[in-house]
Amino acid sequence: MSPLEPRPPRRVIPIRAASTTAESEVARVMQICNACRYCEGFCAVFPAMTRRLSFAAADAHYLANLCHNCGACLHACQYAPPHEFSVNVPQAMARLRGQTYSDYAWPPALGRLYQRSGLTLATALAVSLALFLALGVWQQGGGAALLQAPSGGNFYGVFPHHLLVSLFAPVFAWACLALGLGVRRFWRHAEPGPHSLDAAVEASGQALRLTHLGGGHGEGCNNEDDAFSLWRRRAHHATFYGFMACFAATCVATLYHYGLGWPAPYPLLSVPKLLGTVGGISLALGSAGLGWLHLRRHPLQGDRAQRPMDLGFIGLLFLVASSGLALMLSHGTAALPLLLCLHLGAVMALFATLPYGKFAHGVYRVAALLKSSIEKRQPSRLKLADD
Ligand code: HEM
Ligand code: HEM
Ligand code: SF4
Ligand code: SF4
Repeated sequence: MSPLEPRPPRRVIPIRAASTTAESEVARVMQICNACRYCEGFCAVFPAMTRRLSFAAADAHYLANLCHNCGACLHACQYAPPHEFSVNVPQAMARLRGQTYSDYAWPPALGRLYQRSGLTLATALAVSLALFLALGVWQQGGGAALLQAPSGGNFYGVFPHHLLVSLFAPVFAWACLALGLGVRRFWRHAEPGPHSLDAAVEASGQALRLTHLGGGHGEGCNNEDDAFSLWRRRAHHATFYGFMACFAATCVATLYHYGLGWPAPYPLLSVPKLLGTVGGISLALGSAGLGWLHLRRHPLQGDRAQRPMDLGFIGLLFLVASSGLALMLSHGTAALPLLLCLHLGAVMALFATLPYGKFAHGVYRVAALLKSSIEKRQPSRLKLADD
């Protein structure tokens, strides 16, 4: 089969017209933009839009996740509110993005958790903290022991290693399964076309550099007004790469433990410790920066209804990083057991809510970027129709 020849779809998914309020609004503004095209060079959304004449539900879902909410097209638009056309692309896309997370969630019944993401997150945090405090009291044979330096001076004196693995491994595996199945449904609806390695390389590069938070000209995005700023992209890089470094630290420590028989705690100049410390500082600073910028954003640029989800996720990331760093500094002190419960409770709440909160944005955006890179390499359906 030639690389340009479309593969037969495994399962034909019926095309559904844009029908919800959020889908219809994306379809409406895209029709106007398709006639105007002033913002064509801003990001990947506009070239993808020009390949279509109408916007069915799956097209709208794809474009909503491709938009990086940089705000540039709102500040450039001559039809933006208060104009009677009231074109607000970032807000329409943000509203529909929230709906897609919920629609594609797995299992479908839990998709509703997105609509109350702030409450879901607060509940998960309270339950996880209570779980570790209760486990700590039980392990130590009484609450008073949680206020003393543990035996052996380290965290395995509070919780044995196998207990932590048996609690975290299934919750993390569930989060990966739920996110994976959700994004698979999104992918099937998006009908991506033939895959290619250079499309995958291009999409990964765009995700890792956050190209589309550059506002089209690389000067940055619009945050609270029409001035360009690169701070949102910088803060996201600190958050993303900090998170990845902490995650890598946990993976290397697991490898040391099981592969090399070398249990924690590790010296300051070891790989897990260096990755964890640098990553933790980066994650704490990055999430604090994203929180500050989020509070200053212009209300028209996003969907205010998603604020509890956005700020809850940012706050939880900050709590995980700062409690980990405080824990590291508390070795051999009476503060260690309670800080350990706080850190583990925060990490457990984060893992449990990964597939039902803001974390989903990364996974769906990567899928949308990949589709955009694949689509770009195919002849336009509109051009084929003209020929
Ligand atoms: C992706 C999620 C996680 C993040 C972002 C995170 C973050 C951090 C940070 C920044 C530190 C301080 C730096 C260091 O000592 O390496 C730390 C320490 C620690 N974390 Fe986490 N952590 C995560 C997951 C976990 C998990 C799953 C566990 C246990 C099952 C855990 C247990 C610990 C312990 C015991 C320490 C103290 C290590 C020491 O002082 O040597 N963390 N964490
Ligand atoms: C490679 C995958 C990722 C991509 C392409 C991506 C992209 C983006 C974009 C474009 C935004 C701004 C628009 C919005 O609020 O949705 C954003 C926001 C955010 N991202 Fe990511 N992201 C990725 C992964 C991650 C990861 C792994 C984390 C942290 C664990 C993270 C943390 C955040 C936070 C906290 C915000 C909220 C900022 C706000 O509300 O203003 N992202 N991401
Ligand atoms: S956002 Fe406004 S200026 Fe930009 S293409 Fe659409 S209608 Fe035109
Ligand atoms: S990424 Fe920026 S320019 Fe592109 S559609 Fe979204 S808000 Fe507009």
